[in-house]
Amino acid sequence: MAMKDGDIDERVRALLARMTLEEKIGQMTQIDFSVIALDNVQHGDNPIDRRKLDDAIFNHHIGSILNTPSTPNNRAQPVATWRKITQDIRETAARSRLGIPVIYGIDAIHGATYTEGAVLFPQAISMAATFNPELSYQTGVITAREVKASGLDWNFSPVMDIGRQPLWPRLWETYGEDVHLADAMGGAYIRGHQGDDMAAPDKAPTCLKHYVGYSYPLNGKDRTPAWIGERALRDYFLPGFQSGILAGAPTVMVNSAEVDGIPGHANHQYLTTILRGEMGFKGFTVSDWQDVIRLYTRDKLASSPREAVKIAVMAGIDMSMVPFDYSFYELLLDLAKTGEVPVSRIDEAVSRILRVKYQTGLFDRHEAALPVEGHFATAGAAAVNRQAAREAIILAKNDHQMLPLRKDASILVTGPGANLLSVMNGGWTITWQGDDEALYPKDKLTLLAAIRGKAQGRVTHVGGQRFTDEIDIERAVNEARHHDLVVLALGEPPYTETVGNIDTLALAPVQVQLAKAIFAIGKPVVLVMFGGRPRIITDLAERADAVVLGFLPGMEGGAAMADILFGDVNPSGKLPISYPRAEGDITPYDHKPQAAFEANQYRPLYPFGHGLSYTRFETQGLTLDKSRIHLGESLTVNVKVKNIGERVGKETVLVYLNDAVASVTRPVRQLQAFEKVELKPDEQKTLHFTLKPEAMSFIGLDMKRIVEPGEFSVMVGNETATFTVLPD
Ligand code: GLC
Repeated sequence: MAMKDGDIDERVRALLARMTLEEKIGQMTQIDFSVIALDNVQHGDNPIDRRKLDDAIFNHHIGSILNTPSTPNNRAQPVATWRKITQDIRETAARSRLGIPVIYGIDAIHGATYTEGAVLFPQAISMAATFNPELSYQTGVITAREVKASGLDWNFSPVMDIGRQPLWPRLWETYGEDVHLADAMGGAYIRGHQGDDMAAPDKAPTCLKHYVGYSYPLNGKDRTPAWIGERALRDYFLPGFQSGILAGAPTVMVNSAEVDGIPGHANHQYLTTILRGEMGFKGFTVSDWQDVIRLYTRDKLASSPREAVKIAVMAGIDMSMVPFDYSFYELLLDLAKTGEVPVSRIDEAVSRILRVKYQTGLFDRHEAALPVEGHFATAGAAAVNRQAAREAIILAKNDHQMLPLRKDASILVTGPGANLLSVMNGGWTITWQGDDEALYPKDKLTLLAAIRGKAQGRVTHVGGQRFTDEIDIERAVNEARHHDLVVLALGEPPYTETVGNIDTLALAPVQVQLAKAIFAIGKPVVLVMFGGRPRIITDLAERADAVVLGFLPGMEGGAAMADILFGDVNPSGKLPISYPRAEGDITPYDHKPQAAFEANQYRPLYPFGHGLSYTRFETQGLTLDKSRIHLGESLTVNVKVKNIGERVGKETVLVYLNDAVASVTRPVRQLQAFEKVELKPDEQKTLHFTLKPEAMSFIGLDMKRIVEPGEFSVMVGNETATFTVLPD
């Protein structure tokens, strides 16, 4: 049963009053597992070094531990090992003077990524492509359950950064380029993950990251400067975090890079004035990896490690992911003793940390909160995963109705993405980079295996075992001549963070070479793309008969892709990002008028919201309940959607809004509502959407959110309806 806030505050006050300065600063210190690990840990079943653990807890009073025993690349552990590790830590902390529990954090970003056998879902970009918040809610429910069954406490997820820079190697960790979609998907995930009571055995706290503006590096490289003006920040980058806070997320992880010259970890305006003062965040902030000391070692903002700690803590960092030593602990202790960091600031940070530990039931938890049996890797969870993968996959092109494939067709399957699970899962999968294919579960299907499982005709594979293995193009071409059609799987190997930096969105030349050789023989070709970000495939897409965008559909991605290719499932995914036609033409769908004026055009290969079906849908009868509203009033949008094709299908109806004239330029359109419905042939449904004043608002000249009177247009499908906001 959740403790009442008043009770928690009282317990925090009472405990804080008993804590020494050392114990307080220990709570603000987060260390990597390696600090307490036996040397040369090689996946042992209890890799804790007792002496090091005692030192961490009894001498340094640490508040949190993160990652797996085999840092830095991390490696998934058996659930029994996790339960043993976390129980050892739990029992040791219980023996400390005040028995303050350690909170164990992990990147369970698409399921419990570092627990062997966990259900690993489509990554965020693919979950966004489902346009199905209920599925996102379910993945939150299941992820929390499997994190807790592992004995872990805290999930460094979801990413609420907005993904508008396709070069960025963490684009796929975001819910895409649209604010409304990210808010809907991220909010649902948090509500599923935390429920109404984070202390429940099967619920766990989430972490909004990476606050704020990390996702928009000017040069597309991870952890490099973003140049985001305050209005753009407030219009596009803060709302996701505000939604996450309103959904109840109790922790925020901070941007490792800088915005407009201020590193995220030194930005008092963002971390305190805005996050606390404006957005009302009451939880605690945690730094990202080594980002306090990097104010000195990298950013040259601090003249010493000691000054770096002072700057970060005074800016609003409550917990430091140090993570390899006790430098933060020692330096902050010294700063507190000299009064350069007031104890009141220490007390503020520690109170926030203790409050979350009480809210999550840690003080009353003396063993892993949840048994494995019935809560981990269940058939029901796998079914949700399969459904999420099916709804995440986007049918972008289907000329001559090439798809669905005949099951008796003879098929050549080739391309580096055909026979690997890692290309469908991306980073943070079993290892940090997700690239150790040998560690992937043997019972999950690659695209090739799934096609083989469904096809009744001859299926031939020409390809290697690893993504970089050379593919015998001559053999592929010869085989293609003797098969009815080709499934060509291209894209990217898994990656995350700076490891995934690239200098071009162009596909690897060997992939283009293979594709062109295949196209040259004139057989029908399905181009299947896997990977974390769009790559430039324009020439290939124009020559392929069908194009299916898989992005990162997770462990069930191969099976789901085959379900769709053979028509056992009707695709319903839609693009959560604009798919660029060319490297130098990166424009989001909600662009300003200038980006589509005269010679300038929004001309992606596939636009935001694009996604085909094996049936056809029509929206019609768009009406508004009022043609004039006053400031502060809401509006209802009504529209019919009908399945005018021959088979059952799911369609997402997207409601866009445009503010015709305003004192700040407005996007030509912005998503303000959506709903996904399943309809039988000839079935139709009338949908109703409420547009609240927030939908008509924007950040005005004075940096405040306002609604200005004037004409507005609602756009659904190929219909537009206008209304007027009257001056008061
Ligand atoms: C990494 C990532 C962050 C992750 C953290 C802990 O550097 O930036 O997303 O949660 O470190 O692994």
